Parts: sequence; C-alpha cells; structure tokens
Amino acid sequence: MKKILVTGGCGYIGAHTIIDLIENGFEPICVDNNSRSTPVLLEGIEKITGKKIKNYKVDLCSFDETHAVFQENPDIEGIIHFAAYKAVGESVHEPLLYFENNLFSLINILKCVKEFKVPYFIFSSSCTVYGNPDEIPVTENTPTKPAESPYGYTKQIGEQIVSETTKTIFAQSILLRYFNPVGAHPTALIGEMPLGKPENLVPAITQTAIGKIPQLKVHGNDYPTRDGSCVRDYIHVCDIAHAHILALQYLIKRKNKSRCEIFNLGTGNGVTVLEAIKAFEKVSGVKLNYIIGPRRQGDIVAVYADNKLAREQLGWEIEYSLDEMMLTAWKWELKLKDDEAIHNNPNFKMN
Ligand code: WQD
Repeated sequence: MKKILVTGGCGYIGAHTIIDLIENGFEPICVDNNSRSTPVLLEGIEKITGKKIKNYKVDLCSFDETHAVFQENPDIEGIIHFAAYKAVGESVHEPLLYFENNLFSLINILKCVKEFKVPYFIFSSSCTVYGNPDEIPVTENTPTKPAESPYGYTKQIGEQIVSETTKTIFAQSILLRYFNPVGAHPTALIGEMPLGKPENLVPAITQTAIGKIPQLKVHGNDYPTRDGSCVRDYIHVCDIAHAHILALQYLIKRKNKSRCEIFNLGTGNGVTVLEAIKAFEKVSGVKLNYIIGPRRQGDIVAVYADNKLAREQLGWEIEYSLDEMMLTAWKWELKLKDDEAIHNNPNFKMN
C-alpha cells in the first residue's frame, strides 16, 4: 500500500483528502502542528473509515523535525502538501508570518523530497494566483497577475519553488489551483472548522443561519456583475479531495507530460454572493438575516475556472451541485451545534 504523507491533514481539505486516500487503497500519514487546526477531524475520519490516522505534531518550519518524520517513514511514496496559513486578511497585517510559515515549510519538505527520493509531490495552490484576471473563465495558461495579498504571493512563489525544484530532483509534481472550496462530507462527521469569526462566505452563512453570528454582511452589491455582488467558483470540498487522488494516480501511471503540471479545480460555474445565499435559503429553509455592506478591500470582481484540463487529463468529474454544497455545509453546522449541546450538557459524562 503506497504511503502518502499529508501535511496539514488535520485541516479542512486535508481531512477530506485523507478519507478519499483511504477509500482508494493508499496509506495516509498526517503531519500537522495543529496551530490552525485540531485533531478533532481525525476522529471524524476514524468514524467514517474505521482507520485511526497517526498525526505527527511537527513544525514543518523546523528542518530537523520535518526530517525526523521522513527518517521514521523512509517508504513515503507521495506527498500532498496542504500545510499553510490561508487567511487573506491576516496575511495583509502579518506578511512576514505568512512568508516564513508558508515558504519555510515548503522548502523543508522539498529538501526531504530530494534526500529521500520521494517520487510524487502535489502542491495545494489557489485561484488567488490569478489575481484580478482580465479574462474569465481562467485557464491554466491565463497569465498570473500581481497577487491581492501576501497569502496570494506565497502561493505564486510556492508554485515557482515547486516547479523549479522538480526540474532538478527525482520527483514529479502537480500544482492544484483550488477555486472556492465549500461544503462538508455527506456524513456530516467532518467539515470546515474556521477559527474565530469566519472570513469565508459559506461558513459565515451557516453560522448566521444557526445564530452564532447575528447578521451576515454582504461585502458590496455595486460590482459590474449580474446582481452587483462578486462572482466566485464554489466547489465542493469532496470534489477537491478526489482530484488529489486522481492527480496521484496520474503521476503513478506516468501519464504526466512534464515534471510539473498545473490543474484548475473549479466547477466552471460563476455564482454571485446573492445567488449563493438564495441557494442556501432554498435547501435549508432558513431565511438568512443579511445586509448589504461596503466592498471588502482586496476582493476581486469575478473569477471562475475553465476546468477542461482536469476533466480531460485527470478524468475528474464534478459530483456535487451548488445546492449540495450548501446542504452539506448546513448539516455540518447543525452537527457542530448538537455536539456543543451534548458537551455543554452537565449530565453528559465522557466514558
Ligand atoms: C467570497 C465572496 C466576499 C464573507 C478566499 C481566498 C482563496 C481561498 C478562499 C484559500 C467575496 C463575499 C464573504 C462575508 C461576503 N482561500 N463575502 N460576506 O475571498 O473569494 O477567496 O477564500 O485557499 O484563496 O482568496 O472567498 O469566501 O472570503 O469570499 O459578502 O461574510 O463572498 O466579499 O465576494 P474569497 P470568501
């Protein structure tokens, strides 16, 4: 069974990918320092798959700590590198924190990929590398523009580091550019766990609907779009997760035509903020309490994917609709509330 190292495996996309790896016959091991996550999602993975996943609680910015994981697992055959800070707003205020964390960790992992001759490397990138595109939908050849944040720069620079490094070492690599990952596993046993007040739209919607947030603010409705609100390509986290397995299999079967290939992971459909809210209200039956507020600094007007390459080369198919994205996100939010009620219940005793 091929051992796959998943960095950031306790995180939102990492945890969903670990489930898909297990279901496709791989042996995932997790490395996560839990600075922005908790091992809670590993419990959900165990409930879904019956497999207990070992997490190495390691700071990937420490070469020695990173190297020790590879020394203990010299048979690692592939790496999916999710571990990174990803809060756009925070990165504007803390650029050095983002450049240090996101790039030092990547460089340490790649130094181990080189030393231990790991054959396959998949890098978690983002549509944010396109900046504010002149043309939409964006293809993998759409020129990248200046990033809108230090976070975006860490993805642009990260892609260059992976691309240049894998020209000179044993590994073959793939860069996966996610659009807007949303939703949760259909079992509602794992999902997104934003720390503090959510920046992203869908957790902000579900937390407003459940009463954790009093009112959702729509950041602007005066953009040059069909209803004035921004357009994004929302994609279910399970569709994103499955693309990682297909990318790994693509490399294992040596179908890649170059040492570093790029794929867009989006549905190809642009959805406005107000349309996303309407879809949520339809599937949840909840009338959402929101107001129109001012534009958010750094927001781009519209971006969505041309996903032809991933569909044709990886055999990737979109399984989840916008309604299912919203419904699974809502079911997960309801589950979180039930769990809180149970844990806060004075009669609840851990056995
Ligand atoms: C989507 C739209 C907001 C919250 C970012 C990163 C991207 C990826 C996903 C990491 C925008 C509007 C949001 C709210 C709102 N992250 N919105 N009210 O900014 O497109 O992408 O997160 O990989 O790299 O750039 O996602 O969900 O924050 O915003 O109106 O309370 O929803 O203005 O138009 P974004 P988002």
